[in-house]
Amino acid sequence: MKVKLLTIVMAVGFALSLNAQNKMSLNADQGQYQISKHIYGHFSEHLGRCIYEGYWVGEDSPIPNTRGIRNDVVKALRDIKIPNLRWPGGCFADEYHWMDGIGPRDQRKKMVNTHWGGVVEDNSFGTHEFLDLCEQLGTEPYICGNVGSGTVQEMAQWIEYITFDGESPMANLRRANGREEPWKVTFWGVGNENWGCGGNMTAEFYADQYQQFATYCRNFSGNRLYRIAGGANSFDYNWTEVLMQKAANRMQGLSLHYYTRPALSEAQGGSRAATVFDEADYYGVIRNAYRMDELLTRHSTIMDRYDPDKRIGLVVDEWGTWYSVEPGTNPGFLYQQNSLRDAIVAGISLNTFNKHCDRVSMAQIAQTINVLQSVILTDKEKMLLTPTYWVFHMMQVHQDATMLPIQVISNKIQLPPQLVQTTAGRGQGGQQAAREIDAISVSASRDQSGKVHVTLVNCDLNNAQTVDCDLGSFMAKKVTGKILTSAKIQDHNTFDNPNTVNVKDFSDAKISGSKLTIQLPSKSIVQLELTL
Ligand code: AHR
Repeated sequence: MKVKLLTIVMAVGFALSLNAQNKMSLNADQGQYQISKHIYGHFSEHLGRCIYEGYWVGEDSPIPNTRGIRNDVVKALRDIKIPNLRWPGGCFADEYHWMDGIGPRDQRKKMVNTHWGGVVEDNSFGTHEFLDLCEQLGTEPYICGNVGSGTVQEMAQWIEYITFDGESPMANLRRANGREEPWKVTFWGVGNENWGCGGNMTAEFYADQYQQFATYCRNFSGNRLYRIAGGANSFDYNWTEVLMQKAANRMQGLSLHYYTRPALSEAQGGSRAATVFDEADYYGVIRNAYRMDELLTRHSTIMDRYDPDKRIGLVVDEWGTWYSVEPGTNPGFLYQQNSLRDAIVAGISLNTFNKHCDRVSMAQIAQTINVLQSVILTDKEKMLLTPTYWVFHMMQVHQDATMLPIQVISNKIQLPPQLVQTTAGRGQGGQQAAREIDAISVSASRDQSGKVHVTLVNCDLNNAQTVDCDLGSFMAKKVTGKILTSAKIQDHNTFDNPNTVNVKDFSDAKISGSKLTIQLPSKSIVQLELTL
């Protein structure tokens, strides 16, 4: 009887937040850590239509391109100042043999992409094309080498091929393939998901493998590698512990992968679709997105014990939402639409990385184009920018700015009963999950010109949220803003209607003395700029 009554009360009250004012204090004089621009990085794999069709259309394509790479995509990514690009995988990385992707394109070997749809990979996009793409984007390459099915020699030679400027077999081969000057490549991954698709290794075995491979990842010709060890699957804290214990001395970064998936299975009445979902599904995803904070806190705590000076960066090189593929598309291509819900997830995740920037040195959303939580979708010559793209557009102001600590007392959103009664869902830690979440997520930074930028996300589907912010000693005179929202949380951009979810000017933030008051509409992301 008691249980029944509780369920009724919860059903009536679910997803309601007590709409008191949210409180926030900005500590503009306490900035200590820089938000590395590399937190705003991207990941692009040989998977589905990400590389082929997404970037690469070939030199003979009617789609405007520069040496085979789409011009519209390059422009869109330059506009969000993409700071780095991880390639060639993902799971594909541990099956990729780089020598198959160099030399005359018509003579390159073909292979089967066994992980992703079993399609033929003709290797027409290889090392030279990727590094040309990075130069066109003005971004830093992050290459992930093959540990699972590759050799130490193969990885060592790849680095020599790319970065050595002297006389050597690999440098000469590069020259024979048309590139005289070496490239600079800083970020180097030593395998991917080696607990799974990268070889199904134990943490202990991989740590030993890492030491061996990393020994031969040399710094040639003034190029200094930032070597990133393959890290944990989400909540696997033992992996981080073992890697730090056995291999910390030879790494500059340690990776972590976490995907935000729906909490409710179809059997529990949930939808795993990207644009067809109800309130319970929405809050299940948002609750799982908030768990990034717990993950970063706990993995960082382990790293702190071995590396109190925070020399080693935590590299979240795969994050984003993962739903069912769009109906009628190849299940191995992981093509999903992107709604305002994904923009909210992106806002929460990037706010969380900003707040943990003392340890998080890089992050890469999975994946840039046509795969999982993309910022760009393409259909032949057409291209659209997703709601997630607009979050990256607004939040680029935090790149290399000083993170400002901000205390937030947020209203709480009570979650729907079916969520409270379930665990967090597959891949989400499997624990009994939280009953309530914060209505607002916030981060702030000060850029080199002294401007303060604040990103606020209102996760509440049904209520506007008022935020009272104490600016302390920061005597801002002017506030301007941008907002991303839409009529429905399921709204998304299509090739016929590419601007349904788009950024608009925002004027509901007012300064009075040292107080800033903000009216956040429901389901919105707001970017503010405060100037003296
Ligand atoms: O991003 C898709 C896949 O997810 C990657 O290839 C793999 O690393 C992860 O499991």
